[in-house]
Amino acid sequence: MRLYKAPLWSLIILFGCYCQLWAAEKPAKAAIASAHPLATQAGHEILRKGGNAFDAAVAVTAVLAVVEPYSSGLGGGGFWLLHRSSDGFQTMLDGRERAPLAAHRDLYLDEQGEVVAQKSIDGALAAGIPGVPAALAHLTENYGKLPLAELLKPAIEIAEKGFAVDDYYRRMALWRLPVLQAHDASAVQFLLQGEVPPVGHLIKQPDLAATLKRFAERGVDGFYRGELAQRLVDGVRSAGGIWTLQDLRDYRVVERRPITGHYQGMRITSAAPPSSGGIAILTILNILQENNYAELSEPQKTHLLVEAMRRAYRDRAEYLGDPDYVQVPVEKLTHPLYGAGLARSIDMQRATPSPKQAERSTAEGQDTTHFSILDREGNRVAATLSINYPFGAGVVVPGTGVLLNDEMDDFSASPGVPNVYGLVGGEANAIEGGKRMLSSMTPTFVEDAHRIAILGTPGGSRIITMVLLGILEMANGRGPEAWVKLPRFHHQYLPDVIQIESEALNDQLISQLTEMGHNFKLLKNRYGNMQAVVWHKSTGQVEAASDPRGVGMAKIE
Ligand code: DON
Repeated sequence: MRLYKAPLWSLIILFGCYCQLWAAEKPAKAAIASAHPLATQAGHEILRKGGNAFDAAVAVTAVLAVVEPYSSGLGGGGFWLLHRSSDGFQTMLDGRERAPLAAHRDLYLDEQGEVVAQKSIDGALAAGIPGVPAALAHLTENYGKLPLAELLKPAIEIAEKGFAVDDYYRRMALWRLPVLQAHDASAVQFLLQGEVPPVGHLIKQPDLAATLKRFAERGVDGFYRGELAQRLVDGVRSAGGIWTLQDLRDYRVVERRPITGHYQGMRITSAAPPSSGGIAILTILNILQENNYAELSEPQKTHLLVEAMRRAYRDRAEYLGDPDYVQVPVEKLTHPLYGAGLARSIDMQRATPSPKQAERSTAEGQDTTHFSILDREGNRVAATLSINYPFGAGVVVPGTGVLLNDEMDDFSASPGVPNVYGLVGGEANAIEGGKRMLSSMTPTFVEDAHRIAILGTPGGSRIITMVLLGILEMANGRGPEAWVKLPRFHHQYLPDVIQIESEALNDQLISQLTEMGHNFKLLKNRYGNMQAVVWHKSTGQVEAASDPRGVGMAKIE
């Protein structure tokens, strides 16, 4: 009897262990963190209906396009980083805007060859060919389970019934008031009698609802061909733009292999070119690893981090652009040995000065948007989407509800001349018809032995260093709540200043770094709007956090 009992108990124990292991292979719950509560709710609604993370991503993207017109939209672009749990497949959907085919390198120069900055920011000439509708159709067809029409329902309903203006909306609309006032269809859609609407006013977008319905019924052709395409082209051209029907017809989403690498036992998976994010993050992490960052004193740590940022942004300016147009040395820039070489160029006692440059004040916005999704199967999406500046180019194309992006400003309009985020560039990111403009958007996955993280944020050129600081917090053992609220600092090679949020670095640290030759700029506003999800693999437990700087919502269900 005893002999018989022992194996039975062992079997029960073994079975128990197996169950625990099995349970931990999948998250106990699903989680969505996005920049707007209505988008987070729509995503969960789709999950409840049997959709997966990819379906939810379509619904969340579409709702954000309606409720955050200052951040993203059907007229914009983005990157969707995907992980499919059934086979571990990972890819990045590149739905970045392309330059119209008629665009050329001198598009924003005057007769003297000087950059006319406003031309790539305000108005139809600033708009690239949108990628969001093509990406949503691609995501649905190739990765989702539910039909596009079902996934677009929440967005259509909100576009018809309206969403309430909040302080955040008011701030963004006030910033862009002159350009919104200058275009009738924009003023009708986003203002009230030509002024910023009060809190609580409902923004209804019947034209956008009709465009979404057309897209739901006809898929990608409903946007890029036929009547809507004709309206878009006519509207853009009569507002001074250069789009053609061929531009829209030719637009294609590209699936790209994400950038991957390691730091202190963590695996990083991040955005590939035409984003600069993944490469820059790995260059920086390789430099830190080489110099034993984690072991250093506080001033030495900050100095090293700033010097690593400086070098990664210098390389960004020199080497990075659309990989379909220029050869991007991905292997080299992400290789630990290259990082080691850069590390040797750092004087640990002195700041390396960047060359002198014409100053241009850098934008401090929280527009552009990010969301992170984990479903109960373990599928993941990290997506960062943009129309660039708040309310993009400020132009709604009449009869479409589509707000144009001003992503063309992410190109280098002239070598060494900074864009709206103070970023410089050269040949690799020069304007060319059909080319994708270089981006800083950095949707990212990070995995260590116990946790899987999904994160990202808006913030222009500062996106990369924000995600980096989040990764370093994770390496320190802290959770997503800590990453999203962490006070931030940033260096981008040019201008040669450490940009800091108040409280990011204490006075003593600032004076120690000043003695080493660093310059500082205290920012007036806080920046970023990080959305993060973490899955603890061993317990199945899930955490999610939304940046307190924004109005977003993280929800676990
Ligand atoms: O793709 C890029 O890098 C920019 N268009 C992102 C803009 C952005 O994050 C604006 N936020 N302040």
